[in-house]
Amino acid sequence: MCGIVGYVGRRTAAPMLVDRLDDLSYRGYDSAGIAVANDGVVVVQKLPGKIENLRAALAGNEPPGTIGIGHTRWATHGPPTQVNAHPHADCTGRLFVVQNGIIENFPGLKRELLERGHEFRSQTDTEVVVHLLEEYYDGDLMAAVKKTAARLQGSFALAFLAADEGRLVAVRYHAPLIVGVGGGENVLASDITAVLQDTNKVYVLENGDVVSVEANRIDVDTFLPERAKKPGERQLTIVDWRAEDVSKNEYPHYMLKEIYEQPRAVERTLQGRIKDGDLVLREMDLTPEQIRRLDSFHVVACGTAYHAALFGKYLLERVLRVPVTADIASEFRYRNPILSAKSLVILISQSGETADTIASMEEAHARGAKTLAVVNVRGSTLAREADAVLYTRAGPEIAVASTKAFTAQLTALILLACYLADQRKVDWPYGRDELLKHLLELPANLERTLEVTAPTAKTWGRLIAAGPDCYFLGRNVDEPLAREAALKLKEISYVHAEAYPAGELKHGTIALISEGTPVVSFMTQESVWDKMISNIHEVRARGARTFAVVREGGYGLEDLVEDVITLPAVPELFTPVLAAVPAQLIAYEAATALERDVDQPRNLAKSVTVE
Ligand code: M6R
Repeated sequence: MCGIVGYVGRRTAAPMLVDRLDDLSYRGYDSAGIAVANDGVVVVQKLPGKIENLRAALAGNEPPGTIGIGHTRWATHGPPTQVNAHPHADCTGRLFVVQNGIIENFPGLKRELLERGHEFRSQTDTEVVVHLLEEYYDGDLMAAVKKTAARLQGSFALAFLAADEGRLVAVRYHAPLIVGVGGGENVLASDITAVLQDTNKVYVLENGDVVSVEANRIDVDTFLPERAKKPGERQLTIVDWRAEDVSKNEYPHYMLKEIYEQPRAVERTLQGRIKDGDLVLREMDLTPEQIRRLDSFHVVACGTAYHAALFGKYLLERVLRVPVTADIASEFRYRNPILSAKSLVILISQSGETADTIASMEEAHARGAKTLAVVNVRGSTLAREADAVLYTRAGPEIAVASTKAFTAQLTALILLACYLADQRKVDWPYGRDELLKHLLELPANLERTLEVTAPTAKTWGRLIAAGPDCYFLGRNVDEPLAREAALKLKEISYVHAEAYPAGELKHGTIALISEGTPVVSFMTQESVWDKMISNIHEVRARGARTFAVVREGGYGLEDLVEDVITLPAVPELFTPVLAAVPAQLIAYEAATALERDVDQPRNLAKSVTVE
């Protein structure tokens, strides 16, 4: 939620900041703004709407100066107006701040500051920060920021600019912040993707860090009293993502590019992890003894990652024959979960920064459970703070709608299930050689799936775009896929969609099926094939237009569905990796038919760093 950037160096800051904001625009796009300092004069330009508005306003009119901060907003407090756009200034107009996160105690602070005569212009929580800074500022930005941060409650990453200082100061507290290290220039950003054009060397800041950034110098301190004795060095991380990975290349949308990157993403998930018939998961920091002692498994995530978690539940139960729970993180953290030192909580997240998922990890730690993060972004909070990590290695995902991160998560979960089975001395399903062969063939089968799906998905997508509703059905591991298809369709096309375990529809929701309602059934599981056929009959009898996604060898669908997408024959437990493709492409085609903003759908942000 919201992206923040800062630049200090030798280049003109304004275009640098706008370009880096563009790279972060998936974090929010309600308004954008920059503040640039030059010889004690600070120019602020901020506008509602997307970054193009800001870019257009600055064209031919860029303020000089080689130091500045910038912001792209996902509105929480106050509507997306110019006055609520960041950066915010203090009463003197000499101090400026941009924020990602929420200041939970802002009402009390605002009352206090109003009593002390401060004048507020916006409705944001952020503005209290800069007026508080004004209270403490006496020419030393670092010292004032430390005092300011110590008064704030919530989760926040803040970057500050003072008209009279040639440095930026920033704070991290439960919201991501990194410093990209260049030669004679340094960049602050919410996310690694924003610095890839400049450098592959980054410092990932930790909670409580206060960092002073100059063109040739970076100093780290802390505002947390309990850590006051050990500020200083942070380890330099070398990032293996490239600038090309975050460009659209010839694709009209990031989402489409990322859908087509899935064979490569899954290949990377598998790379180096299968050796001589064994699974090698080096990052897994749990000993065989710890793994054997586990007696309960819990998979926790949000959104698309939660659908991967549901798949994880089916998979782990099937492979390990132990009870597994799957929870939405915002529920798990507040439902007093039953955990012990013998529990493993598996947290799935593309960004590794989702607030509720991080809070679930903290809840698990507080109850003595072990945690394992299945994460895409290296150095993210979940990756650093979980007991063990399994990187999905999908590469940077820019489109708000998650695609390749999902298929990489499913693949990582298959690896994990088999790895845990080995440690617990449980046989793999399908036999070892067979399963490894199919795992290694997944990228090629994804290629094939893309080929067979694309034309059909276009036809279905256009039909579904006519709305107003669409239903997705599935049983067993197809049920999470149905949910994922419905989420994808809703979030990028705004067509109302619902997903149901196919047998459940008749317990109420079937009342909504009427003449012409599209119903797409995912039916890749032999054991429930006949049941799915019956469920399709039920909706068809009520006038539904029916479509099916099946695995090679599906039979008996003639006269029952209008059209079929046939996936390559892989073991049943693997089909969700392939079935994700039609789920994504149908949504993409519906959204483009409706001329929606596919990569940046309304009301959303990619990384949900607030509750
Ligand atoms: O970064 P995470 O995987 O933790 O994000 C979880 C959800 O916010 C995310 O999957 C969201 O639902 C996407 N918009 C789905 O396409």
